[in-house]
Amino acid sequence: MIVLGIETSCDETAVGIVRDDGTILANVVFSQIEEHKEYGGVVPEIAARSHIEHIDILIAQALKQARLDYVDIDGFAATCGPGLIGGVMVGMMAAKALAFAHHKPFLAVNHLEGHALTPRLTDSVPFPYLLLLVSGGHTQLLVVIDVGKYTQLGTTIDDALGECFDKSAKMMGLPHPGGPHLEKLALQATHKYEYDLPKPLIHHKDCRFSFSGLKTAVLRHIEAMQGATLPKEQVADLADSFQRTVADILSIKCARALDIYLKEHPSETPHFVVAGGVAANKVLRSSLENLCKNKNVAFAAPPIQLCTDNGVMIAWAGLEKLSRNMVDSLDHPARPRWPLDQAA
Ligand code: KG4
Ligand code: ZN
Repeated sequence: MIVLGIETSCDETAVGIVRDDGTILANVVFSQIEEHKEYGGVVPEIAARSHIEHIDILIAQALKQARLDYVDIDGFAATCGPGLIGGVMVGMMAAKALAFAHHKPFLAVNHLEGHALTPRLTDSVPFPYLLLLVSGGHTQLLVVIDVGKYTQLGTTIDDALGECFDKSAKMMGLPHPGGPHLEKLALQATHKYEYDLPKPLIHHKDCRFSFSGLKTAVLRHIEAMQGATLPKEQVADLADSFQRTVADILSIKCARALDIYLKEHPSETPHFVVAGGVAANKVLRSSLENLCKNKNVAFAAPPIQLCTDNGVMIAWAGLEKLSRNMVDSLDHPARPRWPLDQAA
């Protein structure tokens, strides 16, 4: 079985083609970073128009990369939410049109489920597993019980972690999206863990996160730095402290979530997974990997290029749905909000 997946929920137009044995046949991504650069963030209207301009070209490129034709595709999947609704509509309508024209199933994929299921493609992670989902818009700890079945253990009460990375990076004078730039800058730090930054909610015995206080603390330190331009060395030290502080917060909260997961879902092969754009961060990955070693739980994180938004994750989630006959109708709506755990 082969599924083509389309992702257009933010500022990446992406198409992936995946076979059910886990082979990635195509992975093409067009990033709109340049188009949004002068605005310092993603402009929804520009994003939607850009998706329209690129989607047909990317589908053709993906088929060429996979050496396939439309007749070889067994299902067409697209992100139907959550995300910027104009962009979501573009990818969803493209997949619906292809499914209709070629008499193949249409698969409506939740973008977050795309991130959540990627480690099953890359590392064959078995259900149930504990997932830390960290992206530009979401920060959640969930137990992934099965396709479409999630139990949320905790989420953020204010900013998402990716948003906190991006806003802190912007204050440090770095371009958008700031996460990867901040990680690079932190490598140049000369004084490790120089700044004492707050770790909100760590003493609360739950799995909730809060990042807005951390962001404000970064602002205060930036404001206190002297000179007409920001002093490079100090900003690099601050980036390093920021990242280490985030790593500590995640470790404390994930340790709690692991205890709950291990108690409520006893398994001979317990797994912890980190996914979403922020999971590309090497400092955070290695700190979470250490935590898992201590807890005797297997650790998995997708390869860096499959952490940030891509079409492969949507194709794979589509395949997981298709193999369970979870096919969707052509009047499936585009959903700006679509929680994985509907009861949360
Ligand atoms: O999953 P994603 O590509 O898009 C959303 O679904 O939101 O995540 C994008 C987020 C951005 O906030 C970006 O700065 C962050 O992931 N990100 C990183 C890194 N690479 C991407 N944050 C920290 N370190 C990185 N290396
Ligand atoms: Zn994403």
